[in-house]
Amino acid sequence: MRIEPAAGPLRAAIEVPGDKSITHRAVLFGAVAEGETVIERPLDAADTRSSVALARALGAEVDAPPGGPWVVRARLGGPSEPEDAVDCGNSGTTLRLGAGLVAGFELFTVLTGDASLRRRPMERVTEPLRRMGAQVDGRDGGRRAPLAIRGGRLRAIEWTSPVASAQVKSAVLLAGLRADGRTSVTEPSASRDHTERMLAAFGARVSREEGPRGAITASVEGGARLRGCRVAVPGDLSAAAFFLVAAAVVPGSAVTVRHVGVNPTRAGVLEVLRMAGAAVELHGERLEAGEPVADVTVRAPEGGLRPFEVGGSLVPRLIDEVPVLAVLALAAGGRSRFRDCAELRVKESDRLAAMARELSRLGAAVEETPDGLQVNGGRRLRGGRVSSWGDHRIAMALAVAALLCKEPVEIEGAEAVRISYPEFPAAFAALRGPVDAARA
Ligand code: S3P
Repeated sequence: MRIEPAAGPLRAAIEVPGDKSITHRAVLFGAVAEGETVIERPLDAADTRSSVALARALGAEVDAPPGGPWVVRARLGGPSEPEDAVDCGNSGTTLRLGAGLVAGFELFTVLTGDASLRRRPMERVTEPLRRMGAQVDGRDGGRRAPLAIRGGRLRAIEWTSPVASAQVKSAVLLAGLRADGRTSVTEPSASRDHTERMLAAFGARVSREEGPRGAITASVEGGARLRGCRVAVPGDLSAAAFFLVAAAVVPGSAVTVRHVGVNPTRAGVLEVLRMAGAAVELHGERLEAGEPVADVTVRAPEGGLRPFEVGGSLVPRLIDEVPVLAVLALAAGGRSRFRDCAELRVKESDRLAAMARELSRLGAAVEETPDGLQVNGGRRLRGGRVSSWGDHRIAMALAVAALLCKEPVEIEGAEAVRISYPEFPAAFAALRGPVDAARA
């Protein structure tokens, strides 16, 4: 993908594809729920197709035509044993939520994925699932995929997760649906709560409680019978973030993303845009299928962007937006800091190393710290050749960085966008002038 520098202000009103986290959950919950689950405006991308493959391997019937809606009908009498190892591709959500989903059924399931997913830490889900009574093994003593899970009767547990991770929380809660009694997961600060909202819509008894120092406990009652329902998927704020940050960094710009999810456990990016001085407006805020949705407009500030600090409980609320927020920091005069972001090192790539390296190649002053980044913004960048590290969000963040460069930017491995946003090259081109989408 080749991106030219910004030639002038960006002015557009767009929509983005359906939310990735919500689409995964609707497919996976539908695969074990009674009746029919209808998913409107699903994200159709490689990652969510991995969840469709897992649902089908468990015997669910999934109609997933390209423009949606998707319809999931679970197998009567419960999921069936997959005939072969299930390939979760690049999708941590499919693998980790999938592990929790199958743990409570008397099935043998092997979950694996691509080279990136097989490098990612899995003990965070294998440990609690073993404590609940599932037999879980995998490479490196169960720390890495492939994971082999023999499910069965489970005990309810009270689990304290050292990391704020929606994938861990969701895996334990899904297993908890099949356990005797009440299962709870406490995390140090709130991660996205789509699982809790959607499980309630599927008929489970779910609660959330705040504890000391920002800790959050989510609980489910075991023995729940999920009932399929209609899920209206909002636009993905993590996809919208690339356009919203683009609007903030190109002087004179104003971009609206319509019908996008603004769940407060996901909307940290909007808080940071405000901190940096961009104007952020929400219009038509409403609740759809239990999720807050709005039209979001971002305008570049007249006097330029201010540096900002990201850390603490804000981090889980913008975990996937750190790469593009590093680009926001490049456009702000002064030093911005990202702390408490060590989780970025175990995403689809080491996103701290990737952004520090690739932005430096463009001429930026970005330094990696053990748990974050320091960005000295305000310099005009050169341009040149960069790499996505095979990571969809790095590819899209670098496309936004290209707007700030003097020379064009060539992004190698930009085909990674197929993981969460196959139409990104075309959508970005439509927003702001020439992109060689054919080469993406
Ligand atoms: C996700 C949770 C986050 C996020 C990922 C999607 C989810 O991961 O980075 O893209 O859908 O639950 P962690 O829960 O591991 O932080």
